[in-house]
Amino acid sequence: MNIHTIILAAGKGTRMNTNLPKVMQPLGGKTIISHVIDTAQKVSDHITLVAGYKKEVLKQFIGASYPNVSSVDQDEQLGTGHAVKQASHLIAPNQKILILYGDVPLISEATIQALISETTDCCLLSMLPDDPTPYGKVIKDSSGHVIKITEQKDASDEERKIPEVFTGIMIVNGEMLVAALDDINNDNAASEYYLTDLVEILSLKGVKINCIQANPDEVVGANNKKELHQLESILRNMKSEQLLDQGITLMDASRTDLRGEVSAGKDCSIDVNVILEGKIILGENVTIKSNVILCDVTIGDNSVIEAFSHLASAIVGSNCSIGPYARLREGSEIGNNAKIGNFVETKKTKLGEGAKASHLAYLGDADIGDNANIGAGTITCNYDGTNKHKTTVGENSFIGTNSSLVAPVNIGKGAYVGAGSVITKDVPDESLAVARGKQVIKEDWAKNKK
Ligand code: UD1
Ligand code: CA
Repeated sequence: MNIHTIILAAGKGTRMNTNLPKVMQPLGGKTIISHVIDTAQKVSDHITLVAGYKKEVLKQFIGASYPNVSSVDQDEQLGTGHAVKQASHLIAPNQKILILYGDVPLISEATIQALISETTDCCLLSMLPDDPTPYGKVIKDSSGHVIKITEQKDASDEERKIPEVFTGIMIVNGEMLVAALDDINNDNAASEYYLTDLVEILSLKGVKINCIQANPDEVVGANNKKELHQLESILRNMKSEQLLDQGITLMDASRTDLRGEVSAGKDCSIDVNVILEGKIILGENVTIKSNVILCDVTIGDNSVIEAFSHLASAIVGSNCSIGPYARLREGSEIGNNAKIGNFVETKKTKLGEGAKASHLAYLGDADIGDNANIGAGTITCNYDGTNKHKTTVGENSFIGTNSSLVAPVNIGKGAYVGAGSVITKDVPDESLAVARGKQVIKEDWAKNKK
């Protein structure tokens, strides 16, 4: 079946109080509209977005992030029916049209599949919200088919009591939709072209219209910051449940922020106030202690990330200990059995297997060999004010505390650097380099001073 999804996103979103198009607001680490498109892509052959308010910003984002998505303009927002009409020239007769709202981001693939698998020419997604007031009421005949949707403004007192309302999401035969769009007028309380009028038009032509009910969490709209906040917490709960289902222990799911995609092996645990963004891959038995931020990180089996560490665009091997208070920046690759201790910062640095930097160090643009020991206070001086340079430290070498390694510089295998050295020349394998002021003793100096 050829599914063409039309996403309505032209609305102004006045209640969001933002300078951005409202569907560009962030939710769970991406934009609201990205949630809708990412789900739509799983079920659609073609996607068209209807843009209107601040369409330049929206279309630029869509063009850059989703080159397969077409967009059409709706310069005046004259209603949902008018919005769909702007895309009607892109509708092919053999297509089934799925209507989604750009501001209803948590609709699931499973729900959409349920709509698609209905064999009728038109199937609506309805809901039973606590407060049905603002929504279009679903009106059925005695056989249970939907014959009409009446908006609140136009509804009779009797119709206003109907608890089942329309979510805005539907699937409809493309040919029938295109024909019906011409019959929709704006003769109603809002003077808008209501897409929902389609239901009565098709029903009068004898089309049997079905309705399936949505999980209310999936159809919460993002109309203001309060709803956005509610969506963030629904999304967090959904993601937490997925992690719990995978077997991860969450100390308190309500205090873990899952904004990205997490996959994890058995027996991982995540403590409170952890933020997970981007793509996170955890091996088995990984422990993430409290107040850790992870963004685009891979961590191997049995590794522990101690409290208050911040890892971004980094790879950590197996059996590693990182932190507390460690900062692994982009391009950090920590080998198996390695240790990064407190107040150590790494950037574009490889730390070999079993290597250690246990305290207070900056390792940037460096390649540190296996089992090397980087003393407290070691700094790779990688920047000369214009360019960045590389430092290499051979395997099994020992860098004494408070040393500056002025790059470009190579420390050989099994070499030693004396504490407090400023190393500006390469150090051969197995040798000792000491580069510091010599200690001078002046006996009785204090007594003579008096
Ligand atoms: C619509 C439905 C209502 C349903 C409700 C669910 C109609 C007439 N009514 O009402 O039955 O219960 O959604 O939330 O369809 N949009 C455009 N162009 C427009 C108007 C709207 O792109 O000219 C977009 C908006 O950006 C939004 C969506 O369509 O994403 C829904 O618009 P909105 O004004 O919120 O519809 P409602 O009147 O709430
Ligand atoms: Ca609405």
